[in-house]
Amino acid sequence: MAKIIGGLSTSHIPAIGNAISREMFEDEYWKPFFDGYPPAQQWLEKTKPDIAVVIYNDHGLNFFLDKLPTFAVGAAPEYTNVDEGWGLEPLPPYPGDPDLSWHMIESLVEDEFDITSCQEMHVDHAFTVPMSLFWPDRSKRPVKTVPVVVNTVQHPLPKPARCLAFGQAIGRAIESYDSDETVVIIGTGGLSHQLDGTRAGFINKDFDMMCMEKIVSDPEALAKYSIHDIVELAGAQGAELINWIVMRGALTGKVSEVHRNYHIPISNTAAGMMVLENQA
Ligand code: DHB
Ligand code: FE
Repeated sequence: MAKIIGGLSTSHIPAIGNAISREMFEDEYWKPFFDGYPPAQQWLEKTKPDIAVVIYNDHGLNFFLDKLPTFAVGAAPEYTNVDEGWGLEPLPPYPGDPDLSWHMIESLVEDEFDITSCQEMHVDHAFTVPMSLFWPDRSKRPVKTVPVVVNTVQHPLPKPARCLAFGQAIGRAIESYDSDETVVIIGTGGLSHQLDGTRAGFINKDFDMMCMEKIVSDPEALAKYSIHDIVELAGAQGAELINWIVMRGALTGKVSEVHRNYHIPISNTAAGMMVLENQA
C-alpha cells in the first residue's frame, strides 16, 4: 500500500513567487524567510517522496464566487499554472496522477465526503509558490501531484472539525492505494493575515504559535474552534489555517516535528512553515 511519509505546511503569499524569480534570497527583507526552507528541501532530498497531495485554496482562478465547491479533488493528467492577476511568471505544468486521484475520489465519496472531481484544473499561487519553495529547481518536476482544493474564500467555509475529518479520510484513502509509492501531504496558506477591510494587516503571533504547537501534538484542539473564532483570531484570510488542519488529519501515524520557521511579516502575512514526519 502507498505510504504517507509526512506533511509540509507553508504560507503561499504571491510576492514570494516574484522574489524567487528575482533571486532575492539574500535580500535583507527576504533572507529570514527563505532561510527557513533548506531543511525542508533537504528532508525531501533524503526521503524522496513519489507523490505530493497538495491541500490549498483556489483564489478565483479555477473556481469563482459563481461556483465554488467546498472540497474538490484534481483528477487530471497535468495541471497548468496561469497567472490569476499577481503578475507571476507562469510555470511549466505539474504532472498529475489520475490513478491515485480516482482512488482518492472513490474512497472519499464512499467515506461520505461528496467532493467535486476535476478532470481539468488550473493551479494558482497557492499551489505553485509552495512547490517552488520545497523543490527549488523550478525546471524539474520530481513528484506527481494531486491537488485538493478547500473553500476558504466564500462563506460558509467548512468547519475545522470537518476539515480534520476530511484529512483523516484522505489519509485512509492514500493508505489503501495499492502501490509501493510514498506520499507527502502539503497544506498551504496562513498563518494569520487579513488582506482587506478595517483589520487589513492584522497578525496574531500568539495564536499562530499556539497553532504550530497544536498542529503537531493536539490537532483536535484546533478542530474545536469555529470558523468565526478563526477569522476573529487569525484574520479573514487566516482561515486558510483549515488547509493545514486537513494536511495534519491525513497523517495517520505518530507525528513528530522535524523543522519550523515563522517570520513576520511577508507582505501582509505571518509566514509560517513546518515539516512533520509521520511514523507508522
Ligand atoms: C497575500 C497572502 C495570501 O494568502 C494570498 O493568497 C494573497 C496575498 C499577502 O499577504 O500579500
Ligand atoms: Fe491565500
